[in-house]
Amino acid sequence: MKTQYFAAASLDGFIATEDDSLEWLFPLGDINETSYPSFIQQVGALAMGSATYEWMVRNTHTVSGQMGAAWPYTQPTWVFSTRTLPVIPGATVTFVRGDVRPAHEAMRAAAGSRNLWIVGGGELAGQFHDAGLLDEIIVQVSSVTLGKGKPLFPRRLTNPPLRLERVKQVGPGFAELHYTVPKSNR
Ligand SMILES: NC(=O)c1ccc[n+]([C@@H]2O[C@H](COP(=O)([O-])OP(=O)(O)OC[C@H]3O[C@@H](n4cnc5c(N)ncnc54)[C@H](OP(=O)(O)O)[C@@H]3O)[C@@H](O)[C@H]2O)c1
Repeated sequence: MKTQYFAAASLDGFIATEDDSLEWLFPLGDINETSYPSFIQQVGALAMGSATYEWMVRNTHTVSGQMGAAWPYTQPTWVFSTRTLPVIPGATVTFVRGDVRPAHEAMRAAAGSRNLWIVGGGELAGQFHDAGLLDEIIVQVSSVTLGKGKPLFPRRLTNPPLRLERVKQVGPGFAELHYTVPKSNR
């Protein structure tokens, strides 16, 4: 069981524009040609922040077109928010707030031997890293720059650095980088 932060980022390190647009991402390639389909098969539980969840609430049509359903996940999902949010029909969602560790315990219990996916955003992935719970970072580096936006991972992580395990090109649109987080970084 690994805790993995898997996200697509612009070349200059943003996962969304400052107004939460992902329009730049979808023309870059077919998600089914990336490592996502094999990745998601190994996932037993998901965690996401409220901006990511609310993007899915607002963009059910786009999500449906890209991924086949308005809520494409069969796995239970933990959504971090201090507010009361609507539930997307068909979604198994638990709303939580504060310390990520109790949610991580509950996710582990639900996932069994399968992996935990930290969907994003970057600050939430950083909170899991701060608690020593992040094992891997998988980034689909996209062939665009955004100039500004929502950061991939707003942490300084230098010593020791991440360990690059694999690199895969997906057409002209993506370079997938697969990193492990060294134990002494936790
Ligand atoms: N390119 C990609 O692969 C990718 C991946 C994921 C997300 N995205 C996009 O990137 C953007 C991410 O937005 P974001 O960086 O703002 O991140 P986010 O993590 O989705 O949302 C941040 C919000 O979540 C809530 N939150 C976070 N940690 C919490 C905690 N411990 N306890 C309680 N609430 C907590 C807070 O809002 P409240 O308390 O006000 O609810 C916080 O402002 C979205 O547009 C999303 O669609 C892109």
